[in-house]
Amino acid sequence: MISAERIPNNVGLSSNKRLQRALEHWQPKYIQWWKDMGPQGFQDYHQVYVRTAVSVDPSGWAHFEYVKLPEYRWGIFLADPVHDRRIGFGDFMGNPVWQEVPGEFRNQLRRLVVTQGDTEPASVEQQRWLGQRCPSLYDLRNLFQVNVEEGRHLWAMVYLLHSYFGRDGRDEAEELLERQSGNRDKPRILDAFNEPIENWLDFFMFTMFTDRDGKSQLLSLSESSLDPLSRTTRFMLTEEAHHMFVGETGIARILERTCQLMRQAGFSGDVRKLGGIDLETIQKFINLWFSLSLDLHGNEVSTNAASYFANGLKGRAYEEKWDDHKVTEAMYDLEGLADGKLERRHIPMRTAMNEVLRDWYVGDCQAGVTRWNKILERHGFSERLRLPDRKFNRGIGMFSAAHFDPEGHQLSDEDWNRRKHEWLPAPKDREFLLSIMAEPVYEPGKFANYIAPPQRGIKGQPINFEYVRTEA
Ligand SMILES: [Fe+2]
Ligand SMILES: [Fe+2]
Repeated sequence: MISAERIPNNVGLSSNKRLQRALEHWQPKYIQWWKDMGPQGFQDYHQVYVRTAVSVDPSGWAHFEYVKLPEYRWGIFLADPVHDRRIGFGDFMGNPVWQEVPGEFRNQLRRLVVTQGDTEPASVEQQRWLGQRCPSLYDLRNLFQVNVEEGRHLWAMVYLLHSYFGRDGRDEAEELLERQSGNRDKPRILDAFNEPIENWLDFFMFTMFTDRDGKSQLLSLSESSLDPLSRTTRFMLTEEAHHMFVGETGIARILERTCQLMRQAGFSGDVRKLGGIDLETIQKFINLWFSLSLDLHGNEVSTNAASYFANGLKGRAYEEKWDDHKVTEAMYDLEGLADGKLERRHIPMRTAMNEVLRDWYVGDCQAGVTRWNKILERHGFSERLRLPDRKFNRGIGMFSAAHFDPEGHQLSDEDWNRRKHEWLPAPKDREFLLSIMAEPVYEPGKFANYIAPPQRGIKGQPINFEYVRTEA
């Protein structure tokens, strides 16, 4: 019998026999997946100082305790209902939102939930070896906090599948535990979630850029007419914010340390020789993870995106900030590529919804990069980090048909192949990073040489707190 106390929730689990039965079947498989594919080497003997959501109100967020990872209490939470909520966009605008899945949109909605759900365990799998190379206990704890919350996000999507999609939903919930990141036969659905994350620069860039794509998607799903989906994703957004904090501050601390080392080396010296990460390498990883995450927003012109919007399944980020919510007449000015030539196109905005969301995403990323550049400025350096042009290194959408440099100039295949490692991590860059991360730092208050300590600890604890401890 599955105990509702072990599963914090606000979905009435103890009185919901159907959901209980479904979870009884699924939960043991989840735990097995977590042990096999979750953080390697930190399952049995380590206790981690993590936050567990025990309710959706702010006090439910203050719950911190040491737990062994497989014993984390993964819960099921929906943000509070909005009284008399109405559909906010598309063809059904103004109608009451749906509490059940309409038959005609069942397949589309299931696809949206499964695609979102698949990314959550995928990221845990990608990151499972990082604990062995951590720069500090503080960072190790943050990694595990992100991992358990991605696990909870999987629970959130599985809750929707079990509760609203019947037999098909149950089958999909099983398959979410069967696909594996990077597996040749059964890969995860989206490409960026099949890339290995083997070093901490990858990890911080992933949480900065790819978790921010998660924010894009969650913002648009939180507008959905399917109310349980909207409420589930609204609560997930609160956790996502922490993941992006980990990424942005992680890179900020690396930059801080890089600046210190550059000054120590007399402004011109080689930071790598001092065991730091040079700006050029940091820029390459921005280029990589930003472009991979742009791909996650899908094709620039998309009839799927148009129908998701028309049917009220997926809105724009902060839909209420727009004036026109039907978008039947509005046009969108798009930079496109046809027969190898760049051109401006005027297309119906509904078919450009992926691009509209990508615009929001690029702006949100740019704000983060601007904050990073303040660190360079404060240290008196004239170099700046930047986002590459959105045509650079694309694997999905029109621009994947050609090559572009980070300024957006088109390149021949030959030039691209010759020069791509000027802009993207080369094998030797990865080797270098692994060389400075080879030894994990497990001593409280100590930090690897390439990263500065954070400004403050977690939940008022000192920086030298034992955020991860081995069982006495
Ligand atoms: Fe997530
Ligand atoms: Fe996340």
